[in-house]
Amino acid sequence: MNEARRPDVAMDTIVSLARRRGFIFPGSEIYGGLANTWDYGPLGAELKRNIKNAWWEFFVQGRDDIVGIDGNIILHPRVWEASGHVQEFNDPLIDCRNCGSRYRADTLIEDKLGQQAEGMPLGEMTELIRSSNIACPFCGQRDWTEVRQFNLMFQTTLGPVETSGTKVFLRPETAQAIFLDYRAVMQSSRTKIPFGIAQIGKAFRNEITPGNFIFRLLEFEIMEIEYFIRESEAPETFEDWLTQIGAFFDSIGLRRENIRTREHEGKELSHYSKRTVDYEYRFPFGWRELCGLAYRGDYDLSRHSEFSGVDLSYFEQQTGERFMPHVIEPALGVDRILLVTLLDAYDEEEAADINGKPYTRVVLRLHPRIAPYQVAVLPLMKKPELVAKASEVQAMLRKTFSVEYDETQSIGRRYRRQDEIGTPFCVTIDYESLDDQAVTVRERETMAQVRVPIAEIADVISDKIASWS
Ligand code: GAP
Repeated sequence: MNEARRPDVAMDTIVSLARRRGFIFPGSEIYGGLANTWDYGPLGAELKRNIKNAWWEFFVQGRDDIVGIDGNIILHPRVWEASGHVQEFNDPLIDCRNCGSRYRADTLIEDKLGQQAEGMPLGEMTELIRSSNIACPFCGQRDWTEVRQFNLMFQTTLGPVETSGTKVFLRPETAQAIFLDYRAVMQSSRTKIPFGIAQIGKAFRNEITPGNFIFRLLEFEIMEIEYFIRESEAPETFEDWLTQIGAFFDSIGLRRENIRTREHEGKELSHYSKRTVDYEYRFPFGWRELCGLAYRGDYDLSRHSEFSGVDLSYFEQQTGERFMPHVIEPALGVDRILLVTLLDAYDEEEAADINGKPYTRVVLRLHPRIAPYQVAVLPLMKKPELVAKASEVQAMLRKTFSVEYDETQSIGRRYRRQDEIGTPFCVTIDYESLDDQAVTVRERETMAQVRVPIAEIADVISDKIASWS
């Protein structure tokens, strides 16, 4: 785990670094932007891919009991009736009659009165907002509608004619395709309970109050596992999964002191959940959900059996028993994890440049497993003989690492850029390299520089990554 201390970083600092260095851009920027949409730029796309790969390697490729699928975003419309999302996947909405602003009523209460309101009956929320004289945060008036339910699923129509087409939903969670494919997975891959099915993919939610950069989005990605067990195994498996999620966080360098767990109270539980524990992170705007672990019981398989008419119970050959499996579900938001990797990694320190001049060094202390580039190859100057040698070194290192090549600007500025984008190692080729076939390897963490024979760079860097703590 990364032991470095960061200053209490402001969200604006991360948003501006992400824009400046090409991690994350505002969506549809040249059209004036589209609120709460963001695009991942070249570095963000690498970081995101590395996080997803790390998760997939940790939970799917690294184990015998979990297999992956890649299911559809658009599913049969009955799926969402069976899953309970048509009925239950709602947030409480309140409108200001004066200016038309819309708010999530429970969030409004929490923000204005500091009182937990998730799960509170709608009438009670209306009464509380009115009796506490809460003003509209936008126009300051107190002319509220009643609180009503708002379904978060995006709808669209299949087929060319909107009026006669089939109404379908963009999935609000990836879990359902796993339940639909559970039987086919068992038949095709000879899996036996306990086992899990994993999926990474986009989900869509028409959030009433999106925001806080990429924390709450309309379109985001989830990494999710449905782990099928016997009911009697649930308590032990749940605890085990809590530990495993923590181990995954460690493997990508998240810092535990900014993370805690929180058990959901009864009224907060999703309609499908018997028990939920969130991992929360200390964001600049307070402790908020990072990811969740839910015990879904046999809710989904039973409902899909009922609605589809296909028996999804499990037959255990050894014991001759037939039963409906229960499910433990770890669900991690990719975008939220990515935001946390940036917040956790951001650091500033006083340093001296190569001429001894002091400056504030901005450094992203990303774990090498997820850093957009693991190595930067830098010829000391843009001279043909150095560039040729650097290209050779780059081609060699590319076989093992993700490598960036940079020959622009002074070496000092190039080091600063690599620090700011979180590249753990810089390899510099100078005139001596042409004679001694060695290069300077600079480490991001300490700025220490060592001379390494070209033939040994890959091993030296691999060893350092393998023993990274
Ligand atoms: N299948 C369970 C499920 O979807 P969830 O807690 O609603 O559970 C899983 O979502 C994770 O997805 C959350 O813990 C969070 O990391 C992320 N997430 C949820 N809503 C999000 C949103 N609007 N924007 C970005 N990430 C979101």
